[in-house]
Amino acid sequence: MNLNLTTKKIDVEIEIILVKNKKIKENKEILKSLNFKGEDEQSVLLPELGKLYVGCETDDKDNIRIAIATAIKALNKTNFKSASIKCKDNLSAYIDGFELGNYKFDKYKSKPKDTKVSLGTTNKEFKKEDKNIYIEVNNIDTKIQKEFEEAICICESVNMARDFVNTTPDDFYPNIMAKEAIQIAKENELECKILDEDYLKDNNMEAMLAVGRASVHKSKLIHLTYKPSQKIKTKSKKKIVLVGKGLTYDSGGLSLKPSDFMVNMKSDKSGGCAVLGVMNAIASLNLPIEVHGIVGAVENMIGGDAYKPDDVLTAKNGKTIEIRNTDAEGRLVLADCLCYAQDTIDDIDYILDFATLTGACVVGVGQYTSGVMGNNTQLNYQVVQSAWDSGELATTLPFNRYLKKTIKSEIADICNISSTRYGGAITAGMFLDNFIKDENKQKWVHIDIAGPAFVESAWGYNPHGASGTGVRMAIEFIKSI
Ligand code: BES
Ligand code: ZN
Ligand code: ZN
Repeated sequence: MNLNLTTKKIDVEIEIILVKNKKIKENKEILKSLNFKGEDEQSVLLPELGKLYVGCETDDKDNIRIAIATAIKALNKTNFKSASIKCKDNLSAYIDGFELGNYKFDKYKSKPKDTKVSLGTTNKEFKKEDKNIYIEVNNIDTKIQKEFEEAICICESVNMARDFVNTTPDDFYPNIMAKEAIQIAKENELECKILDEDYLKDNNMEAMLAVGRASVHKSKLIHLTYKPSQKIKTKSKKKIVLVGKGLTYDSGGLSLKPSDFMVNMKSDKSGGCAVLGVMNAIASLNLPIEVHGIVGAVENMIGGDAYKPDDVLTAKNGKTIEIRNTDAEGRLVLADCLCYAQDTIDDIDYILDFATLTGACVVGVGQYTSGVMGNNTQLNYQVVQSAWDSGELATTLPFNRYLKKTIKSEIADICNISSTRYGGAITAGMFLDNFIKDENKQKWVHIDIAGPAFVESAWGYNPHGASGTGVRMAIEFIKSI
């Protein structure tokens, strides 16, 4: 699919018409007879008239995204090669609908279907027949052109994150994740450090090391940096650090997951993949902000060398952690990555971490919404606002003093699981707080994306599988600071 911006009326095979507020203005009789009411996710193609009608119940951005996604999916079922749509405002929502709604992951199909799939950097061999879509706008000034290009760049990065997450654990393990990071760095002129297990050992990152110990795949710490070019003149140069949980597979370790819960645990790298997605887009946005992307790429497996419930591990900041469940591994990896970030980057303004951290978060807020936590209520709300502005769903989950007591340990500084089964998303967030330095307490936000990162049935403009959650939210937040 090729998206084109135009001010002229182009001669196309199909004109896409969004029917807003259920107000059908033309071809009323035919549409009525086809039972088209203009409801969300409803579409009717009238090929002989060259028109595709799509319902869009209200004019807000999210409804536009869903309506456009409905349109492109309907078009993909046909052999028409060109289509147009009128766009008065909210151009970026149109792009989101086309780019995110057109996404398909068919890397593992022996006969891929006829739509184009962007396959990240690992595999670019499937290039499909293309459809040309013309978005008709009133005029194209530099602002519109910029909005168009940025939206495409962000969507491509979301789709790249989706590809990574959907890729199987045998094809995407820590070293592959590191290679993808190197590729992203090359293409975007970012600094890139890949730190191996020797580095982790030398720097007392025992928590992260222990999680990956039973895997045949060696753990990697990925650190990408975007520094704005000297050309961008600005008074204050902000610095933001994004940290991602990159569990390329989470079997649960010795506290092994039951079979049904292990399926889809390839998605436990979603936080890390979201961070890579942001880093892929950030250079093109030309923002006067220094952005660091740190990913703990690790595989949690079983074996004679596995870390165990009853072990006590020491994290990079010297804190000791009693292990009572090896399936609460993400917080251990993040603990060391958060310490690494704070020890190696100075004068940080914001630290955001993204992680598929707890099933409890999914139970609490549903599978479509991320849980936002931290010590700074105002900042939590700011992140939630950025999420909604970008088209993602998020809500705050406030910390409290009572739950904090449930992660105390009798024998170590802290325990990796709570003594209560309630409030698991919050206790996981409060565990991470132990690895945030006092001077950064108000600058840190933890985002649990366990629900929306990977959903088994399609929702809105998201297909089955990975959604790329976190990429748009983080970019919107970075733009807002
Ligand atoms: N990766 C899982 C969390 C998860 C669950 C992500 C469902 C996506 C969908 C995490 O490592 C985990 O296993 N957490 C445990 C924590 C528990 C042992 C305290 C959980 O949520 O059950
Ligand atoms: Zn786990
Ligand atoms: Zn996990």
